[in-house]
Amino acid sequence: MRRMEVNRQQAWETLTKYTQSEALRRHALAVEAAVGWYAQRLGEDEDFWRATALLHDFDYEMHPTLDKHPQDGAPILREEGYPDELIEAVLSHAEHLAMPRDTPLKKTLFACDELAGFVHACGLVRPDGIATLEPKSVRKKLKQPSFAAGVHRDEVYRGAEELELDLDEHIRNVIEAMRPIAGQLGLKTAAA
Ligand SMILES: [Fe+2]
Ligand SMILES: [Fe+2]
Repeated sequence: MRRMEVNRQQAWETLTKYTQSEALRRHALAVEAAVGWYAQRLGEDEDFWRATALLHDFDYEMHPTLDKHPQDGAPILREEGYPDELIEAVLSHAEHLAMPRDTPLKKTLFACDELAGFVHACGLVRPDGIATLEPKSVRKKLKQPSFAAGVHRDEVYRGAEELELDLDEHIRNVIEAMRPIAGQLGLKTAAA
Protein backbone atom coordinates (compact mmCIF):
# COMPACT_ATOMS: atom_id res chain seq x y z
CA MET A 1 0.00 0.00 0.00
CA ARG A 2 1.22 3.49 -0.76
CA ARG A 3 0.51 6.41 1.52
CA MET A 4 -2.23 7.68 -0.73
CA GLU A 5 -3.99 4.33 -0.64
CA VAL A 6 -4.29 4.21 3.13
CA ASN A 7 -7.68 5.17 4.48
CA ARG A 8 -9.39 5.20 7.84
CA GLN A 9 -12.01 2.62 6.87
CA GLN A 10 -9.34 0.05 6.17
CA ALA A 11 -7.55 0.97 9.39
CA TRP A 12 -10.82 0.51 11.27
CA GLU A 13 -11.16 -2.95 9.74
CA THR A 14 -7.62 -3.87 10.79
CA LEU A 15 -8.21 -2.49 14.28
CA THR A 16 -11.44 -4.38 14.82
CA LYS A 17 -9.93 -7.59 13.42
CA TYR A 18 -7.35 -7.60 16.22
CA THR A 19 -9.22 -5.70 18.94
CA GLN A 20 -12.50 -6.90 20.43
CA SER A 21 -12.41 -4.81 23.62
CA GLU A 22 -14.89 -1.97 23.54
CA ALA A 23 -12.65 0.16 25.78
CA LEU A 24 -9.69 -0.22 23.42
CA ARG A 25 -11.82 0.54 20.38
CA ARG A 26 -13.11 3.66 22.11
CA HIS A 27 -9.58 4.71 22.99
CA ALA A 28 -8.64 4.35 19.32
CA LEU A 29 -11.64 6.47 18.27
CA ALA A 30 -10.83 9.17 20.83
CA VAL A 31 -7.21 9.45 19.70
CA GLU A 32 -8.34 9.36 16.06
CA ALA A 33 -10.72 12.27 16.65
CA ALA A 34 -7.98 14.37 18.24
CA VAL A 35 -5.32 13.54 15.63
CA GLY A 36 -7.85 14.08 12.82
CA TRP A 37 -8.75 17.47 14.27
CA TYR A 38 -5.11 18.54 14.14
CA ALA A 39 -4.63 17.13 10.63
CA GLN A 40 -7.50 19.23 9.42
CA ARG A 41 -6.27 22.35 11.15
CA LEU A 42 -2.71 21.90 9.91
CA GLY A 43 -3.84 21.08 6.36
CA GLU A 44 -2.27 17.60 6.55
CA ASP A 45 -3.43 14.31 5.03
CA GLU A 46 -6.37 13.70 7.35
CA ASP A 47 -7.22 10.19 6.17
CA PHE A 48 -3.62 9.04 6.66
CA TRP A 49 -3.34 10.66 10.08
CA ARG A 50 -6.66 9.14 11.17
CA ALA A 51 -5.62 5.69 10.00
CA THR A 52 -2.35 5.97 11.94
CA ALA A 53 -4.14 7.06 15.10
CA LEU A 54 -6.68 4.24 14.84
CA LEU A 55 -3.88 1.70 14.57
CA HIS A 56 -1.51 3.03 17.24
CA ASP A 57 -2.66 0.47 19.85
CA PHE A 58 -4.14 -2.10 17.45
CA ASP A 59 -2.00 -4.91 18.95
CA TYR A 60 -2.54 -4.02 22.58
CA GLU A 61 -5.12 -6.74 23.16
CA MET A 62 -2.66 -9.45 22.09
CA HIS A 63 0.45 -7.61 23.35
CA PRO A 64 -0.60 -5.88 26.58
CA THR A 65 2.95 -5.52 27.90
CA LEU A 66 5.71 -3.14 26.86
CA ASP A 67 8.10 -5.93 25.97
CA LYS A 68 5.74 -6.61 23.04
CA HIS A 69 3.59 -3.50 22.43
CA PRO A 70 3.81 -1.93 19.96
CA GLN A 71 6.98 -3.41 18.49
CA ASP A 72 5.59 -6.90 17.89
CA GLY A 73 2.60 -5.36 16.14
CA ALA A 74 4.78 -3.74 13.49
CA PRO A 75 5.39 -6.92 11.42
CA ILE A 76 1.64 -7.54 11.38
CA LEU A 77 0.98 -4.04 10.05
CA ARG A 78 3.66 -4.64 7.42
CA GLU A 79 1.95 -7.89 6.44
CA GLU A 80 -1.39 -6.08 6.24
CA GLY A 81 0.28 -3.83 3.68
CA TYR A 82 0.67 -0.57 5.60
CA PRO A 83 3.53 1.70 4.52
CA ASP A 84 6.65 2.31 6.62
CA GLU A 85 5.66 5.89 7.33
CA LEU A 86 2.54 4.74 9.17
CA ILE A 87 4.33 1.92 10.99
CA GLU A 88 7.13 4.21 12.12
CA ALA A 89 4.64 6.73 13.47
CA VAL A 90 2.83 3.96 15.36
CA LEU A 91 6.12 2.79 16.89
CA SER A 92 7.13 6.31 17.87
CA HIS A 93 4.20 6.74 20.29
CA ALA A 94 5.92 4.32 22.66
CA GLU A 95 8.32 6.09 25.01
CA HIS A 96 10.25 2.91 25.78
CA LEU A 97 11.33 2.56 22.16
CA ALA A 98 12.93 6.02 22.34
CA MET A 99 12.32 6.78 18.68
CA PRO A 100 12.63 10.36 17.52
CA ARG A 101 9.32 12.16 17.12
CA ASP A 102 10.55 14.10 14.13
CA THR A 103 7.38 14.66 12.10
CA PRO A 104 4.18 16.59 12.84
CA LEU A 105 2.23 13.31 12.75
CA LYS A 106 4.48 11.66 15.36
CA LYS A 107 4.35 14.69 17.63
CA THR A 108 0.57 14.93 17.31
CA LEU A 109 -0.05 11.24 17.94
CA PHE A 110 2.10 11.30 21.06
CA ALA A 111 0.47 14.50 22.32
CA CYS A 112 -3.07 13.18 21.80
CA ASP A 113 -2.66 9.62 23.08
CA GLU A 114 -2.54 10.09 26.85
CA LEU A 115 -4.56 13.30 26.84
CA ALA A 116 -7.47 11.82 24.87
CA GLY A 117 -7.53 8.99 27.40
CA PHE A 118 -7.52 11.46 30.25
CA VAL A 119 -10.25 13.68 28.80
CA HIS A 120 -12.28 10.53 28.26
CA ALA A 121 -11.85 9.62 31.93
CA CYS A 122 -12.89 13.15 32.99
CA GLY A 123 -16.02 12.86 30.86
CA LEU A 124 -17.03 9.53 32.34
CA VAL A 125 -17.50 11.05 35.80
CA ARG A 126 -19.47 14.10 34.66
CA PRO A 127 -23.26 14.20 34.25
CA ASP A 128 -22.97 15.76 30.80
CA GLY A 129 -19.82 13.96 29.68
CA ILE A 130 -17.45 16.39 27.97
CA ALA A 131 -20.18 18.79 26.78
CA THR A 132 -19.20 21.50 29.27
CA LEU A 133 -15.75 20.24 30.25
CA GLU A 134 -13.18 23.06 30.47
CA PRO A 135 -9.37 22.89 30.40
CA LYS A 136 -9.26 24.26 33.93
CA SER A 137 -11.01 21.25 35.43
CA VAL A 138 -8.92 18.87 33.34
CA ARG A 139 -5.76 20.51 34.68
CA LYS A 140 -7.08 20.22 38.22
CA LYS A 141 -7.72 16.52 37.76
CA LEU A 142 -4.24 16.05 36.27
CA LYS A 143 -2.89 17.14 39.63
CA GLN A 144 -4.82 14.41 41.48
CA PRO A 145 -2.59 11.34 41.16
CA SER A 146 -5.37 8.93 42.13
CA PHE A 147 -7.66 10.03 39.29
CA ALA A 148 -7.13 7.96 36.10
CA ALA A 149 -3.88 6.85 37.67
CA GLY A 150 -2.83 4.94 34.55
CA VAL A 151 -2.43 8.13 32.53
CA HIS A 152 1.18 9.31 32.49
CA ARG A 153 1.04 12.99 33.43
CA ASP A 154 4.58 13.65 32.26
CA GLU A 155 3.62 12.45 28.77
CA VAL A 156 0.61 14.77 28.73
CA TYR A 157 2.81 17.77 29.58
CA ARG A 158 5.62 16.78 27.23
CA GLY A 159 3.17 16.16 24.38
CA ALA A 160 1.85 19.72 24.54
CA GLU A 161 5.41 21.06 24.73
CA GLU A 162 6.49 19.11 21.66
CA LEU A 163 3.49 20.52 19.78
CA GLU A 164 4.57 23.94 21.04
CA LEU A 165 1.11 24.53 22.39
CA ASP A 166 -0.03 25.95 25.64
CA LEU A 167 -1.48 23.08 27.69
CA ASP A 168 -4.89 24.73 28.02
CA GLU A 169 -5.10 25.25 24.29
CA HIS A 170 -4.17 21.63 23.59
CA ILE A 171 -6.73 20.39 26.12
CA ARG A 172 -9.40 22.63 24.58
CA ASN A 173 -8.61 21.29 21.11
CA VAL A 174 -8.80 17.66 22.21
CA ILE A 175 -12.13 18.22 23.98
CA GLU A 176 -13.53 19.98 20.92
CA ALA A 177 -12.33 17.14 18.70
CA MET A 178 -13.94 14.48 20.86
CA ARG A 179 -17.31 16.19 21.42
CA PRO A 180 -18.90 15.15 18.11
CA ILE A 181 -18.27 11.46 18.89
CA ALA A 182 -19.07 11.60 22.62
CA GLY A 183 -21.92 9.12 22.17
CA GLN A 184 -19.66 6.61 20.44
CA LEU A 185 -17.19 6.99 23.27
CA GLY A 186 -19.84 5.98 25.80
CA LEU A 187 -20.06 9.50 27.23
CA LYS A 188 -23.28 11.21 28.17
CA THR A 189 -24.21 14.06 25.88
CA ALA A 190 -25.90 17.33 26.77
CA ALA A 191 -29.04 16.30 24.92
CA ALA A 192 -29.37 12.89 26.56
FE1 LIG B 1 0.32 2.30 23.09
FE1 LIG C 1 -2.95 4.72 23.20
